[in-house]
Amino acid sequence: MDHLTVVTHPLVQHKLTLMREKDTPTAVFRQLLREISQLLAYEVTRELPMEMKRIETPLQAMDAPVLAGRKLALVSILRAGNGLLDGILELVPSARVGFVGLYRDEATLQPVQYYFKVPEMLGERLVIAVDPMLATGNSSAAAIDLLKEAGATDIRFLCLLAAPEGIARMKAAHPDVPIVTAAVDEKLNEKGYIVPGLGDAGDRMFGTK
Ligand code: URA
Repeated sequence: MDHLTVVTHPLVQHKLTLMREKDTPTAVFRQLLREISQLLAYEVTRELPMEMKRIETPLQAMDAPVLAGRKLALVSILRAGNGLLDGILELVPSARVGFVGLYRDEATLQPVQYYFKVPEMLGERLVIAVDPMLATGNSSAAAIDLLKEAGATDIRFLCLLAAPEGIARMKAAHPDVPIVTAAVDEKLNEKGYIVPGLGDAGDRMFGTK
């Protein structure tokens, strides 16, 4: 997989535009995120290995493709990651789930860890780390550091919006981790927000301020 994949599908772009609009209500924002997460999951799981299985249709026997049982782990980077997680879990309900709790110190913009719980045998799984906003990349890179320390070797990073600064930071720290996103915006502002962006994803998803 390329280091960066931007999912330009019209449905993704349309839903993202609705999410960006400042007057989109919380419930609609959340629903749109759920829908986009499934379209992004389609892309991030595109290369999952398949195997053939002998089945019987009502008409005849055939060899048909099924997932080869590759173990998956979805890791939500709290708290906004949960918005992406829910939708993806509907598509891959058997995936194991982990959580990394990092908050961004508003003064230094550096990530501070407060929670870490991931499935066992991380090294045998395809690990998909999810966080809607790849901004400075500091917390994303730190989360990937933690996942690698826990044994993960095959990791993908799924987000909704990315800033060029975050992509560069991730590429420098984790060139082996492909990024899938719906859009790359212009830049970060002085507060570390992605512009034009969509604001604080967690606040908009959970209706907090
Ligand atoms: N996190 C957000 O939720 N929004 C941004 O713009 C940057 C980081």
